[in-house]
Amino acid sequence: MLKVVCLNFRYSVKESRTYMIEFKHISKVYPNGTIGLNDINLTIHPGEFVVIVGLSGAGKSTLLRAINRLHETTDGEILIDGKSITKANGAELRRMRRDIGMIFQTFNLVKRSTVIRNVLSGRVGYHSTLRTVLGLFPKHDIELSLKALERVNIREKAYSRADELSGGQQQRVSIARALAQEAKIILADEPVASLDPLTTRQVMDDLKRINTELGITTVVNLHFIDLAREYATRIIGLRAGKVVYDGPVSEATDDVFSEIYGRAIKKDELLGVLEE
Ligand SMILES: Nc1ncnc2c1ncn2[C@@H]1O[C@H](COP(=O)(O)OP(=O)(O)OP(=O)(O)O)[C@@H](O)[C@H]1O
Ligand SMILES: [Mg+2]
Repeated sequence: MLKVVCLNFRYSVKESRTYMIEFKHISKVYPNGTIGLNDINLTIHPGEFVVIVGLSGAGKSTLLRAINRLHETTDGEILIDGKSITKANGAELRRMRRDIGMIFQTFNLVKRSTVIRNVLSGRVGYHSTLRTVLGLFPKHDIELSLKALERVNIREKAYSRADELSGGQQQRVSIARALAQEAKIILADEPVASLDPLTTRQVMDDLKRINTELGITTVVNLHFIDLAREYATRIIGLRAGKVVYDGPVSEATDDVFSEIYGRAIKKDELLGVLEE
């Protein structure tokens, strides 16, 4: 009993710590000469729920993926919790990446594996390769993974095969994987683009709940303007690799969106319209 109390205490201490992200003069030129990002300067504070919007090709994915160096940048520096991830190498880079959970449009699960195995894969950064290849995760990790599944309301699916789940459920598994990873930052690149409107809201609600309950700094790329307004605490608008809007949702009017997009908002950019 005493052991359980101690463990819970340890979780709550870890969960209360979240990270800040700073972009300092970040630029990215792709090898073919395309400018992906053009002198980005931003500070994202611990616990914020930031939504990045912009036309296709504006640089949203490039920006998000620069944070954990899934895409390398060509200029400038990114600091995570005050430490340069741009300059980090080897073990230090791996340790910094361990703090950053990533959610993809296509879920990125091992489909033939069970749900719990997929969630446990969030723990690989904490153990030796041999141990994880053999699937020898400590009891603590299994408890953590089940707790993560409980948070996204699919605990009962723990021993199902991942490909037996609906798209929305699979996305919840990937959120649970980020939770099991004990991520201090969650990056989500179009997390609902493959989902229907109802499931979209469920997944966005999960992300938002985790953000408010655990305070995890969350950065999400979204296509739908009304969703961005509904869930964000701050909206960042990108156009041709530059920040053209950065402010609270209350000030992100239709006119602001038209300016970010360089044209009037189209109906299919509103989820509400698709629901009708
Ligand atoms: N691997 C690549 N090589 C060359 N150019 C690229 C590459 N990936 C992206 N780009 C270009 O960089 C720019 C930004 O692309 P990015 O994928 O970040 O846009 P996005 O805002 O995420 O778009 P979408 O809404 O379509 O996902 C675009 O002009 C794109 O064509
Ligand atoms: Mg993209």
